[in-house]
Amino acid sequence: MEKLGKPKANRLVFLTSPFQGHINPMLQLATILHSKGFSITIVHLQFNSPNPSNHPQFTFKPITDNLSESKVLQGDILGTVKALNKNCQVPFELYMKQMTEKEDSDDRISCIVYDGLMYFAHTVANNLKLPGIIVRTSAAAGIFNFTVFPHPHQQGYISLLDSMAEEFSTELQSLKLKELHASIKTEYPPDAVLELRAIITSAIKDSSAIIINTMSYLEREALTKIQDIFNASIFPVGPFHKLAPTVSNSLLQEDRSCISWLDKQAPKSVLYVSFGSIVSMTEDELLEVAWGLANSELPFLWVLRPGLVRGSDLLEPLPEIFKKRVEERGCIVEWAPQQDLLAHSAVGGFWTHCGWNSTLESICEGVPMLCRPFFGDQFLNVRYVCHLWRVGLELEELEREKIVKAIRKLMVDGEGEEVRQRAVEFKEKAKLCQIEGGSSYCSLNDLAEHISSY
Ligand code: UDX
Repeated sequence: MEKLGKPKANRLVFLTSPFQGHINPMLQLATILHSKGFSITIVHLQFNSPNPSNHPQFTFKPITDNLSESKVLQGDILGTVKALNKNCQVPFELYMKQMTEKEDSDDRISCIVYDGLMYFAHTVANNLKLPGIIVRTSAAAGIFNFTVFPHPHQQGYISLLDSMAEEFSTELQSLKLKELHASIKTEYPPDAVLELRAIITSAIKDSSAIIINTMSYLEREALTKIQDIFNASIFPVGPFHKLAPTVSNSLLQEDRSCISWLDKQAPKSVLYVSFGSIVSMTEDELLEVAWGLANSELPFLWVLRPGLVRGSDLLEPLPEIFKKRVEERGCIVEWAPQQDLLAHSAVGGFWTHCGWNSTLESICEGVPMLCRPFFGDQFLNVRYVCHLWRVGLELEELEREKIVKAIRKLMVDGEGEEVRQRAVEFKEKAKLCQIEGGSSYCSLNDLAEHISSY
């Protein structure tokens, strides 16, 4: 639709946050919308800047963040999110004003598409009278959790959950109290986490549209419930990584040598182990993981990211005796091309923290998961993976003997066969979402039409 005879506003300004698990889906979404004919500007922080040369079709604009790197590097996520929302509003608004003042009639801004963690963008959009579209890079269940249960720690919550139980079908009943509680349990005071959730929820309430990296068949009930709560249209157009061509957005250098190592392994024999880009663990926990892998007697490929061991800058955190024991069947790298690994025929299982990207990437390749959540939405994701979809097994304790049992069950024992089979079925369902007429395919077309109507 053209307004006052001018060409349609066609430029989408994406605002990204500086976390790997958010940069990946945001740039994938930008790629998808570019393929729908929109022009893209990516506004990003100086810290953890994406690499513009990987996306020559986009315009990149860094804004001043004044972030203390130590805060981010020490994994203070809450502090980082608060700081960047405080520091970035003025430079972002200034940049947007300059852009709108000098735009020509055939390259006008249509809307701001922003990562939900960058909630200040909503104020900027309002000030400039532009539509603001929020992107949630985690599951729809996360939004549901934020809005329906904003105060899970308060008295009366359990009876509220009980009274609602009948209203919910298996999908939402499966999100048990334990997980909802666990999702706010971090090193931060619960009130600080809940306050952040409330701010994000309020931005979602006021947004012009909500884009979620999910597939309808995974979260039908959560999607329906949140659509009842919010006025804005919800577009579940995931999995982003499958709808966009694979381009690496890794902040760390990917060690591709592990692909040639995998090429030499038998089909479905290797357990891929990675805990994403933020999780950290104690040295003792790391040793339990290591000896669990060693004692499982199965091949494994482990991403041992710098910073994985909390408070330690050990370059070689693993003992020599362990390395000797596994040298024939273990491959350890600092950062891997994860999507390629999960798609490799030698990978038969994924031990994951269940970050939402890892969960979706595993589902799309039909790889069953061994799940050990660490914080936040990971607890909800594990509940879905292991208890509702049943494409994974939950590891209750980081203890070497329990790890061995769980790995063998996932990878080889007869008991794990149902999970392995269901993982394959889920891959097929995911494919159906993406093809013509599938839920994500249709939702994406609706989204493109929606944006064009601004
Ligand atoms: C964070 C939160 O922890 C997670 O719970 C939330 O859902 C998203 O933000 P992160 O912990 O990094 O993300 O996990 P995840 O969501 O799985 O994202 C990690 C990304 O890094 C994935 O896209 C994965 O493919 C990629 N990755 C990971 C690599 O490319 N190489 C690696 O070696 C490890």
